[in-house]
Amino acid sequence: MSRAQPSGYSLAQIVLHWAVVVLIIFQFLAHDAMEKAWDAVRDGQAVPADAALGANLHAAAGFAVLALALIRLFLRFTRGAPAAPTTVPAPIAMISNVTHVLLYVLILGLPIGGAAAWLGGVGVAAPVHGLGAEVLFWVAILHALGALYEHFIAKTDVLRRMLKPQA
Ligand code: HEM
Ligand code: HEM
Repeated sequence: MSRAQPSGYSLAQIVLHWAVVVLIIFQFLAHDAMEKAWDAVRDGQAVPADAALGANLHAAAGFAVLALALIRLFLRFTRGAPAAPTTVPAPIAMISNVTHVLLYVLILGLPIGGAAAWLGGVGVAAPVHGLGAEVLFWVAILHALGALYEHFIAKTDVLRRMLKPQA
């Protein structure tokens, strides 16, 4: 049975979106300990004592992103997400949709890649994870600039609807 496409996001979708943003900012600011720990493990040494806590925090925050991203996907498929406002030109709406898909791929793929290296000992997964993080950084910047453009220049309700829930 198909249901009407919602015109906004639910409170759960909004809270999950911003919680993932906070976790990802944390990942970008605090990955030094994980890199130090990874260098040691890769060279066959024990995790340095001063890096253990930071490395565990990096893994835990990353797994939290994975869990929250899965819940978000579930909500997207069951509740749905609003379409781009009709005033948004078709090519821009398409770029925005592709960006959202890419963000989902990255927030699901990064923790899996990180875990493959850290828990699975798959060496090649580490540089792929680093590259993926770099891509996420730039895609997230593009996405945030798009949101600010919509709000301040195109004056659509796109940013507002990610702040104010629709029941
Ligand atoms: C969305 C979640 C995650 C983000 C955004 C993220 C981000 C990052 C970033 C920015 C780096 C530094 C890369 C570099 O400068 O080369 C890094 C390194 C690393 N991360 Fe993550 N990470 C995430 C999840 C995870 C998880 C869940 C694990 C393990 C369970 C993990 C394991 C690692 C490892 C082992 C490294 C060191 C790789 C290396 O130095 O080559 N990450 N991560
Ligand atoms: C790591 C950072 C981010 C990730 C991974 C991310 C991910 C996403 C995803 C996947 C969507 C699609 C809707 C959904 O399924 O929930 C979305 C929507 C949205 N995001 Fe982000 N986001 C990030 C940062 C930001 C930032 C910094 C802003 C604001 C400056 C922002 C503003 C928005 C807005 C306004 C929407 C709604 C777009 C629409 O309704 O068409 N996001 N985000």
